[in-house]
This record gives sequence, C-alpha cells and structure tokens, in this order.
Amino acid sequence: MLKVGVIGAGSMGRHHVRILSELEQCELVGIADPDESREELAQQYKTRYFADYHELLQLKPQLVSIAAPTKLHYELARAAIRAGVNLLVEKPVSDDLAQARELVSLAEARQIVFAVGHIERFNPAVQALKQLIELGELGQVLTVHNLRVGPYHGRILDTGIVLDLGVHDVDLISMLLGEQPQRVFATGFKRVHPHEDHAVLQLAFKDGRAGVIELSWNAPYRMRNILVSGSRRYAMCDMANQRLMVYEENEDFDRLMPEPRTVLKSEPLRAELASVVNCVLTGTPPLCPAEDSIKALEVCLAALRSLDSGQAEKVGG
Ligand SMILES: NC(=O)c1ccc[n+]([C@@H]2O[C@H](COP(=O)([O-])OP(=O)(O)OC[C@H]3O[C@@H](n4cnc5c(N)ncnc54)[C@H](O)[C@@H]3O)[C@@H](O)[C@H]2O)c1
Repeated sequence: MLKVGVIGAGSMGRHHVRILSELEQCELVGIADPDESREELAQQYKTRYFADYHELLQLKPQLVSIAAPTKLHYELARAAIRAGVNLLVEKPVSDDLAQARELVSLAEARQIVFAVGHIERFNPAVQALKQLIELGELGQVLTVHNLRVGPYHGRILDTGIVLDLGVHDVDLISMLLGEQPQRVFATGFKRVHPHEDHAVLQLAFKDGRAGVIELSWNAPYRMRNILVSGSRRYAMCDMANQRLMVYEENEDFDRLMPEPRTVLKSEPLRAELASVVNCVLTGTPPLCPAEDSIKALEVCLAALRSLDSGQAEKVGG
C-alpha cells in the first residue's frame, strides 16, 4: 500500500481526497488544510486532519497531492521534496519560473517523482484526438483553436485566467503540435476579477503553424473545445462532454460531414491520480512531468508580458 496525503482540500483538493481514498493501492494517511471546516472531509473519508501541513509530512507519506492556491505551490512543494515525498502539484506548477525550475532540480537531486496535474491530458476525448493525429488521420496539423469559457466561480483570486485556465490549453496545443510556440501575442481585459478574466492568445509555431486560445470568465455558457485544422481533415473535441467529431468531405467534395468517433467516457482526475500512483510504485516517469508544465508556464508568462506591452513576445525571452 502506498501512503498518500493531500495538502489543500478545497474545491479541487476534495476530489483528490475522494479518489485517493478509493484507489486500491493507496492508504490515505491524512489531509492538511488550515481551514478547519475541512476536518469534516477527513472524517467523511476516514482519515486524519491536520491544520498544518508539516504534521502531515511528519507521517512520511510516499506521495502527496498539492491542491492549495497556486501562490503557495512553491512553499508546499519545496517542503514535500525536502521531506523526501513524491508529489503531484496541481497546475500551474507555480506562477514563477525561477521557483518552478528550482523545484524541478531539487526533485531531480532527490530522485523524487514530480508530476503536475494537467488533467486534460487524461481526458479520454483528448487522448482519442491525440491518437488520431499520431495515426496521421488529420494529415499535418496546421492550426489548433481552443475555447475555454464560462462564468466566474469566485474562487481563484491569486492568478488571472491566463495562468489558471490558459495553462491547460497552452499545454494541449503544444502537445498536439509536438513543440513549444516561439512567440505569443495576447489581448485581454478584466471585468469581474482583480487580474485579467478574458484573454485571447495567438501562439506562433514554426512554419506558420498556429494556436489560438480564447479564455473567459465572463461567458454565460461553459465550453471547453479544441478545433483542429489538418491538411486532410478537421476535428472537434468537446472536452467537457468527452466527444470527438471528425469532419469528412462528402463525395462531391462540397461539404464537410461530421462523423462522431467513439470515446469511452471516464473521470480524468481518477486516471491522472492512478497514473501518478503507478509511477511511484513502478519507478516509471510520469505522463505529465513538471518539466512539461514549466514549458506551458513559460508561454503563459510570455502571454502576460504581451498583455502589458501590446506586442508579440518571444517565449522564454
Ligand atoms: N486541474 C484542474 O482542472 C484544476 C481545477 C481547479 C483548481 N485547480 C488548481 O488547484 C489549486 C486549488 O484550486 P481550488 O479551486 O481547489 O481552490 P480552493 O480555494 O477551493 O482550495 C484551496 C484550498 O487550499 C487551502 N489552503 C490554503 N493555504 C493552505 C496551506 N498553507 N496548506 C494547505 N492548504 C492550504 C485552502 O484553505 C483551501 O481549502 C489551484 O492551484 C488551481 O489552479 C486545478
């Protein structure tokens, strides 16, 4: 049995608690959260509650999930690594590049599994889309357009929408195009949030290939879509409903006909946590290592610079 713990048991962390308490290979040894109302959650899942995460680390869990606010990821992850504990940190890995890189080298030096929760990588519709691309069914991928919009839920205050949600799409588009963009141009504004809450990012890749991301906390409807234009076919992946459509040309080549592809629906967070548990048990590398999350962070930080400067910004520049 792998001893596991959860640090930060709010809106996302409570799902980590539920799933880790159910995974067969795990024993949930405790949860840590300064909000004492979380003690009830610990009782519900028959585990121990700590207001102070140091006490949880003293139990020497073999893996912790960190789902506290992004601003605290660095402090909490560093403490876990120093205590020799493998970790899954919720996305974004951090809001600071130097701190994220420091965490990666600390984890490497201690040979600790350090995964980041880019949950959409575990979405079965995204996995089916990735497979289509790898099999060449769409031809060469030319553009990927992601839409992630919905109403603001009032929880995330420490970062704007680019770091909070855009990091999913930057990661996905880079994964689907097989490389990191070279430049990014962003426009946006704020209406309901202290930071930007609506943004459009244009990502420029090599050879004119492009990614476009629209992010909003001002929309009345919730949509999470990926539209892929390939040299042979188009595809539309609905991440929220786990559906995938491929658009085929009809016999007269005058219309594109949607053809649904089979997606076996499943809970992405369960797949993500099971995968990280397996990495720790078998010593295999995680599907989403922290290094990949750093690449997405670099692009998001360039997008934030672009929002300020009004110019396209070099990634990593
Ligand atoms: N992968 C995803 O799809 C996804 C979805 C939502 C949130 N997230 C990420 O999860 C993280 C938390 O977001 P949320 O929406 O659950 O926020 P939240 O505010 O609902 O929960 C955060 C929890 O962390 C606790 N906390 C604060 N300080 C702490 C400390 N020092 N030690 C331990 N716990 C502490 C808070 O009391 C709260 O219970 C963020 O990084 C966010 O980006 C990821």
